[in-house]
Amino acid sequence: MSYKVPLSDLERDGPTSITQQLVARFAAAIDAGDLGPGEKLPTTRSLATDAGVNHLTAARAYRQLADAGYVTARVGAGTFVRALPPGAAGDVESDDDAFQALVLPEHRPSFGAQAMLEAARAPDDDTIALAMGWSDARLAPAEELAALAAEAFAEAPDEVLGYTSPEGLPSLRRALGERGVAEGWAAGPEEILVTTGATQGLHLALRAMVERGDAVAVESPSFLGTLDALRDLDARMLPVPVDEGGLNVGVLERQLARHEIRLLVLQPACHNPTGYDLAPERRQRILELAKERSFLVLEDLVYANLRFDGAAVTPLRADAPSHVVSVDSVSKTLAGGLRLGWVAARPPVLARMAARKLRADMHTPGLSQEIIARWLASGLHEAHLARTLPVYRERRDALLEALRSELGKEIRMTNPVGGHHVWVTFRRPVDEQLLHAEAAREGVSYLPGSAALADPTVTSGLRLSFAVEDPPRIREGVARLARALRRTRERELGGASLLRS
Ligand SMILES: Cc1ncc(COP(=O)(O)O)c(C=O)c1O
Repeated sequence: MSYKVPLSDLERDGPTSITQQLVARFAAAIDAGDLGPGEKLPTTRSLATDAGVNHLTAARAYRQLADAGYVTARVGAGTFVRALPPGAAGDVESDDDAFQALVLPEHRPSFGAQAMLEAARAPDDDTIALAMGWSDARLAPAEELAALAAEAFAEAPDEVLGYTSPEGLPSLRRALGERGVAEGWAAGPEEILVTTGATQGLHLALRAMVERGDAVAVESPSFLGTLDALRDLDARMLPVPVDEGGLNVGVLERQLARHEIRLLVLQPACHNPTGYDLAPERRQRILELAKERSFLVLEDLVYANLRFDGAAVTPLRADAPSHVVSVDSVSKTLAGGLRLGWVAARPPVLARMAARKLRADMHTPGLSQEIIARWLASGLHEAHLARTLPVYRERRDALLEALRSELGKEIRMTNPVGGHHVWVTFRRPVDEQLLHAEAAREGVSYLPGSAALADPTVTSGLRLSFAVEDPPRIREGVARLARALRRTRERELGGASLLRS
């Protein structure tokens, strides 16, 4: 840290505590840009010496800065100015906020989780958004959906405006049940629970099947939401790597030799973030193992129908409905904002989920349910998919091509058959937080690799999404990323002060 926060004139007997003064001075230096993203703060010991305070006061000040979103601590490495603007994370501006930072229980979100939260907030137009795997709202059939909403209000006001059952509206469960039968993931409407997005489906299903301390095998990398839901449950996560053939069953078998697992969580098709499918022989072996070793399987199908290449993967549930629970939504194929998802499960799991659903939010909004019931019955869904898939394919190709030409020598990347993402790993390790800070400066967002890993000790990767930007912006985004990587390498070599000047 080249800039020195002034500490000689702290008011020892003033009305504001020394901790608050330290917090205010570091926050002001960060706000003013005197301390830039990624810069390392003095150790708590050296801050304690410089400020003439005890070590605990220095540590408390850093903790409050972290809680307020200014800095982030990395075990063994130190405390760093966060890559992302603090305003978005909640400022310590008023006494009330400072009070809360002090009294709330310790909460240290991981760097990846913070980055995800920032990316989930509406991006500014100057930043090229390669972070979130969201469907592009510009491609959603707004007029058709608006007409269905008007129809729903006119024809089914009770369903739209009144409370309904936690399992979901009968018309939607029927429509989903028919799809489930056709695609293999459900036997009929009685196996369906409508949820508020697949996110809630994952949470409810995990809650129904897993209890604290259970061993759960999970793909790594995977969807951060799934990993966080498992962390919330205090499950023991057993990471299983993913390669071109999907989940590595050899590693799963080695895990099974040592652990009794309750559940395996996977995405068998167009996996987030690699974009790979589960190979048929692996699918078969997983089903055999689930039956032999009596564990449950949770399959997440949200990207399964967003396929550019290759044949559809049969859902695991088609061959083992008692062992497998399936989660899906219309978020990726149609519109994430409707928050409309579902779970397919046998009655024992379904009943547990329905009870939890009632406690969580009573039921998914009737308007979204009515719209989707009508949308699915209209037969327009397939036509919409056929219209939008080529757009996403073109974006995927633009991203892969740009990565090859801008960063080909530096990285390895997956070649997704579907979904919204490319998983990138660096041939040479790179400081994840420094790179993220440089990328933010350049104006490009992405998800740091550690956010997608069940075992985040390996951090030399990142997830790029090609879903919401047009090809020219994707190309520009990769050019910015390449510049950010060059600057990061320079800074890693000790050129930080040169770059700032
Ligand atoms: C693999 C996976 N599952 C589930 C979800 C959550 O989907 P939804 O928006 O329907 O909650 C996502 C969203 O990014 C995802 O990538």
